[in-house]
Amino acid sequence: MGILDGKRILVSGVANNRSIAWGIATALHQQGASLAFSCVERNLRKVNKLAKTVSSDLVAVCDVQRDDDIAALFNTVGEAWGRLDGFVHSLAMADVDDLDRGFVETSRHGFALAMDVSVYSLIAMARHARPLMRAAGGGSIATITFLGGERVVPGYNVMGVAKAALNMAVPYLAWSLGGDGIRVNAVAAAPIRTISTSVLGGLDRAFKVMEEHSPLHRNVTKEQVGDTVAFLMSDMSRAITAETVNVDSGIHAMSL
Ligand SMILES: NC(=O)c1ccc[n+]([C@@H]2O[C@H](COP(=O)([O-])OP(=O)(O)OC[C@H]3O[C@@H](n4cnc5c(N)ncnc54)[C@H](O)[C@@H]3O)[C@@H](O)[C@H]2O)c1
Repeated sequence: MGILDGKRILVSGVANNRSIAWGIATALHQQGASLAFSCVERNLRKVNKLAKTVSSDLVAVCDVQRDDDIAALFNTVGEAWGRLDGFVHSLAMADVDDLDRGFVETSRHGFALAMDVSVYSLIAMARHARPLMRAAGGGSIATITFLGGERVVPGYNVMGVAKAALNMAVPYLAWSLGGDGIRVNAVAAAPIRTISTSVLGGLDRAFKVMEEHSPLHRNVTKEQVGDTVAFLMSDMSRAITAETVNVDSGIHAMSL
């Protein structure tokens, strides 16, 4: 018996087995959920292989910068399942140049790219998830954010501004979709080594700061993020929406 028995959940953002989305997928699978995946074309083969290990053969390509891809993804899920209980948004993108140079040098194109992929995609995908979640009598949406959207994390730059916008998109969506019984929450994860973070400077320093200064004196794993998302996907969190849950050994509470 798992807390997600009978739930059908779409997970976006698996690039490989180090992705936070993969930690989430394995946690959801352990709790009994049936899973579907969306990924970009270049990761399709890898994600198909990973999906099989959690008993899923529902994998669709979706570049979130393309409206047609988003519509096709939710059509595919609708045709396969007829309803959707949960959707996990675990994706983001920024131009590496905008992470390397001073924040004041952020390009117009880089700003638009980070906002489009990392923020607008949640809104567009929630809109397409809505009818399928209505058919399920309600649903749960979760996205993954970072403390750099609340406070300055040197080098996080334009992605910090995108996460700030994402953080506010969550309660606005919660208000917009709450009438349909759809909950929308965010999980703020501590630094975890993935493809995306490999382009950020200062990652080793961040791991050290976590060990020295977080209340729990330890780093966080993608599986720990996954367990929290499993809770948010489950009926155990049925009164929680418009919330950001920090999965970060408590580092968000610290200063100086
Ligand atoms: N790793 C961390 O330290 C950390 C901490 C807090 C929050 N996060 C957030 O977690 C989420 C997942 O990142 P991750 O660290 O697992 O890295 P990751 O590189 O494994 O995942 C990022 C995903 O975004 C996808 N993506 C990028 N552009 C896309 C597009 N146009 N269309 C569809 N998908 C696209 C990539 O293909 C990839 O699957 C991101 O929102 C990230 O900001 C990560």
